[in-house]
Amino acid sequence: MVCCRENFGKAFSRLDRLLTDYESLWTESAFVKESLSWLQNQSALGDALLRIGESELEELQDERLLLNFLSPYVPGLGELVHWETENRIVQSWQTPEKALFGLPGRKRRQTEGFVSAVLSLSPPSEPGSRWVDWCSGRGYLARQLYFAAGAEVHCFEIDGELCRSGSEAHCRISRELGEKVVFHQQDVLSDLPSEILQDGVLHTALHACGDLHISMLRKAAAAQAPYIACSPCCYHLISAEAYQPLSQFGQISHLRPTRQALRLATAETCTANTLERELRHRELLWRTAFDLRLRECNGRDRYTPTPSVKKSLLKTSFRQFAEAVLNKLNRRGDDLSFFPLSPTEESQLLQKAEAKMWRVRRMEKAQLGFRRALEYWLLLDRALFLEEQGYAVSLQQFCKKSDSGRNTVILGRLRS
Ligand SMILES: C[S@@+](CC[C@H](N)C(=O)[O-])C[C@H]1O[C@@H](n2cnc3c(N)ncnc32)[C@H](O)[C@@H]1O
Repeated sequence: MVCCRENFGKAFSRLDRLLTDYESLWTESAFVKESLSWLQNQSALGDALLRIGESELEELQDERLLLNFLSPYVPGLGELVHWETENRIVQSWQTPEKALFGLPGRKRRQTEGFVSAVLSLSPPSEPGSRWVDWCSGRGYLARQLYFAAGAEVHCFEIDGELCRSGSEAHCRISRELGEKVVFHQQDVLSDLPSEILQDGVLHTALHACGDLHISMLRKAAAAQAPYIACSPCCYHLISAEAYQPLSQFGQISHLRPTRQALRLATAETCTANTLERELRHRELLWRTAFDLRLRECNGRDRYTPTPSVKKSLLKTSFRQFAEAVLNKLNRRGDDLSFFPLSPTEESQLLQKAEAKMWRVRRMEKAQLGFRRALEYWLLLDRALFLEEQGYAVSLQQFCKKSDSGRNTVILGRLRS
């Protein structure tokens, strides 16, 4: 269905049609809604989901198997299975021993792939060339870029502590690295030093969230930066209520996914280990139980969005978790009550929540099946935007999914 050898505009339009035709399937959450509107027309899909056994449910964590499972009910989804394997970057860069200092394993593999992608663009790196790394964190990527190509790298990072510790680490590795990778404590959503913006030959962003990478794409393209390499992440972290497409193709689409709907694009859990998955299950179970109890105590028949709480609470008890969530909701001004539960009542509540979860975990597979379509739609919107700004663009997979779910880099080279 979507292939990056195919024209981006065509691929975007096909995905747009798929997402528009089946909008209720990917925007309605079985966790939130008791009755999903799409079940009226897709009862065969609903029945098939409810027939899924426990071991098949586990298997369907594999996105490709899920797409195959859903494709008889949603023509077009199955073709997305093949897209990813076609565009893997050939890894040409390996971290030298001296650059390993403090670099976590997964970040090493991500940055090696990302640097290999950058090198495939052959951006100029002779003395005097400035490269700019947006939202650099401690500068792990910037360090690799410097060792790989020797260009001066300027890092924009809002967090002063990350700038300081990154700079310290670089000075410990070598004086030259400390001098050539320069940190600027800088909010990339505000005005940026124009000389760095204008002189930057290459602009990079690895895993910059929503508005941050959008700002990078817009500002680097406005400055007509010769090379751009951007790997987007957390598409839902935007200030607007709903997504505002960047490209002209996106702007004529009728789709305007809300922040909540955009979460789907990054919803997979394949990099999670067993403990993380267990905690995730517990969190969903406790949130479900909390919601069921709120309905009983407050006579409301609708889902109450619950705020996030510290992950360490998931290792305590349901009672402590519920108290923390309730306090947060009430501080927000909700004024909700949650009468204490006896041990028997708590166990009955958790059983009820478990039964709801049984259904939710099956029905939500329909929604999760559109994750890849939505992510490609968002990636293609960015790729098309860069094309419209005069760039030759490609999309590449720069690392394995097990190293990062967000493993696509958008590479742009300004056409002369
Ligand atoms: C997910 S991390 C990615 C860090 C790094 N690129 C990497 O891959 O290791 C996002 C980074 O963006 C930084 N950040 C958040 N908001 C920012 C802003 N408004 N301006 C600049 N940096 C920001 C965060 O402090 C964080 O270091």
